[in-house]
Amino acid sequence: MNPLIIEINNRQFQIERCRNQADLFFVQALDDLVFGNHQDISAELLRAIFEQDGLLVYKIKNQIIGQSQCLFYSACDIKIEETNTALFYGTAVLPEFRNQQIGKALALAQEKIAVAAGKTKALLTVRPENGISLIMRYQLGFNIKNWLPDYYGVNNGRLLLEKCFDTNSIQKPEKKQKAVNQVSIQCGDDDDQKARQQIAACFSSGQRVTGFRLISTSAALFEFS
Ligand SMILES: CC(C)(COP(=O)(O)OP(=O)(O)OC[C@H]1O[C@@H](n2cnc3c(N)ncnc32)[C@H](O)[C@@H]1OP(=O)(O)O)[C@@H](O)C(=O)NCCC(=O)NCCS
Repeated sequence: MNPLIIEINNRQFQIERCRNQADLFFVQALDDLVFGNHQDISAELLRAIFEQDGLLVYKIKNQIIGQSQCLFYSACDIKIEETNTALFYGTAVLPEFRNQQIGKALALAQEKIAVAAGKTKALLTVRPENGISLIMRYQLGFNIKNWLPDYYGVNNGRLLLEKCFDTNSIQKPEKKQKAVNQVSIQCGDDDDQKARQQIAACFSSGQRVTGFRLISTSAALFEFS
C-alpha cells in the first residue's frame, strides 16, 4: 500500500509511506518549523515512527511539503496501554501549501494505515488554541475527550481527541443538546490561560464537549453539556 490514494472531492492525493532514511532530515525540519514554538517531535520518537512504518509524507516535485505520523506500539517514553490504539502525531503542511485539502488527506491517510494495522481507535492531542486542527479533526469524527493539563510538562496542557474505527463501537454523533457551558478561546500561538482554566473546570465537573466551532479567524467556541 505505497503510495496510499486518498480521494477528496474528486481530487486524488498520493500520500507516501516514508521509507527513505534520507527523508527523515526533511521531515524533522518540517516538524521543527511548524511545531517548534510548542512541541516538535524528538529525533528518537520520529525514528521509532519511521521504523514502525507510520511516517507519511506528501510531496510536490519530489519535495516534502506535508507529513503526518502514526505510532502503532509503545516507543521511547510513550506507552500505548491498549493494543487496539494508535497515536497520531505531527500532521503538518508547509504554510504556503495550506488550504488545499492536503492536511485532510494526510489525516485520512493516518486513519487508513491505523485501520490497516488492525487498530480500532486513534488518540491524538491538540493545543486548545489550535482552532484549525481541532475543526479538521472534529469534522473527521474525532471527539474531544479530555483535558490533560500537564501533558507536555507543568501547565503545558493539551486536549485529548479520540476516534473509534470499530464499526461495532462507532460513536454516534452527540445528540444536539443545549449547551450548559460555552468557552470561547483565542486561537493562535499564545496560550489562552483563561479559556484553559474554564475548559479544565468543565471537564472536572463531568461535562463533555458537545460542540466545537470557529467563530472567526482568531476565535473558537467549545460547547459543554
Ligand atoms: C492543520 C493543518 C495540517 C491543516 O492543513 P491544510 O492542508 O491547510 O488543511 P486542509 O486544506 O486539508 O483543510 C482541512 C480542514 O481544516 C479546516 N480548515 C483548514 N484551514 C482552515 C481555515 N483557514 N479556516 C477554517 N477552517 C480551516 C477545514 O475544516 C478544512 O476542511 P474543509 O476545507 O472541508 O472545510 C495545517 O493548518 C498545519 O500544518 N497547521 C500547523 C500544524 C498543526 O497545528 N497541526 C496539527 C497539530 S495537532
